[in-house]
Amino acid sequence: MTSPSIDKEHIWHPYSAMNSNLPVYEVESAKGVRLKLKDGRELIDGMASWWCMIHGYNHPQMNQALEKQIKKMSHVMFGGLTHRPAIELTKKLIEITPEPLEKIFYSDSGSVAVEVAMKMAIQYWYAKDQTTKQHFISLRSAYHGDTFAAMSVSDPETGMHRLFKESLTTQIFIKQPDSRFGQPCSQKDIDELEKTLKHHATTTAALILEPIVQGAGGMWFYSSEYLQQAKKLCEKYNILLILDEIATGFGRTGKLFACEYANISPDIMCIGKALTGGYMTLAATLTTKDVSNTIDSTSPNVFMHGPTFMANPLACTAADTSIDLLLKSNWQEQIKKIETQLKNELSICGSFDNVTEVRVLGAIGVVEMKQAVDMKSITENFVNEGVWVRPFAKLIYLMPPFVIDSSDLSILITAVIKVIKNHSSSK
Ligand SMILES: Cc1ncc(COP(=O)(O)O)c(C=O)c1O
Repeated sequence: MTSPSIDKEHIWHPYSAMNSNLPVYEVESAKGVRLKLKDGRELIDGMASWWCMIHGYNHPQMNQALEKQIKKMSHVMFGGLTHRPAIELTKKLIEITPEPLEKIFYSDSGSVAVEVAMKMAIQYWYAKDQTTKQHFISLRSAYHGDTFAAMSVSDPETGMHRLFKESLTTQIFIKQPDSRFGQPCSQKDIDELEKTLKHHATTTAALILEPIVQGAGGMWFYSSEYLQQAKKLCEKYNILLILDEIATGFGRTGKLFACEYANISPDIMCIGKALTGGYMTLAATLTTKDVSNTIDSTSPNVFMHGPTFMANPLACTAADTSIDLLLKSNWQEQIKKIETQLKNELSICGSFDNVTEVRVLGAIGVVEMKQAVDMKSITENFVNEGVWVRPFAKLIYLMPPFVIDSSDLSILITAVIKVIKNHSSSK
């Protein structure tokens, strides 16, 4: 069998059917912001491989660090053992994440980091003998991952609640805030939040939020004041605050972590995706001394989780090197440049008949269409324009690697404008 037919016959892709007629393109190599396809075509990557690949592909310093580490050890179990890459990474994460986060649990993917955060919150209240606090409050249009607990706090309509309804824990959902980023938070949004937290205080372990940007659930940018209110109300009603910075972390929104827009810090924070500069899969759940001490204080006196590949040394090396690269770069200036160009050049789409609105924040540019796009034709059209853009539902968005220069970004934006102009939605 040829490689395309093996792929088609035997390999599942994300959210796809085995008998799908959607095209899948074989990537032979990648460098900087370009993906090189097997057929020789080159595509400028507008997705940074789903928010991750911030320094671009095949980065010499990243490669060198990983080559050096692989000669020492690629993996070793973390039970009873530790290693320099985990220690170095931990020092950096404590330094760059908001105080008082200082206890770190490493895991393999964003969804697992969310599961870990939810377990931490439940175990915290269990240790405080408040065993009714087992549930979570989340927002409509939220997305926190594909595993069961993460699914349970993701949007009940656009998520997978209908299909897995009988197996999912029922959680409480609040309407997503209407108050937009850069604007004050409406009293209506605050009232709705307070009403829900107050009503469910005795049964709620934590409120979980994607700070500032709701990503895969709708690419919605909301008021930083909402986040400040969330923090205040969680304290008032004795509910932990979990911030899921998996998509927003490491500069994407213009701040290192999106919660910095609100000057708040959560009780528990999840990071992943760009943590390793997109090189390896690694995620982490960070928390405070108070949460970890409380968990330790009561039987079973340990936090009940421990993945096989916890703190994988190669992944920790990638993360450590990626954070160095990011902090040594002029990333704020670069994100500002990307943001300005996205605002200037993408905004024309707002005047098209098939577009609802264009929104930009940091290195994220979103065109919300009036109707869901036809994935097959739109993907082919983008590839024919020499760019890699993967929309979902009504959303066509760009979140390129931070290292993209203005001419490559212009090629990406021009392709989006052209494809949208000619696109008729799915039937
Ligand atoms: C905010 C957020 N949380 C969690 C996840 C899940 O991460 P992963 O796909 O690494 O499991 C994602 C993935 O898109 C995400 O955007």
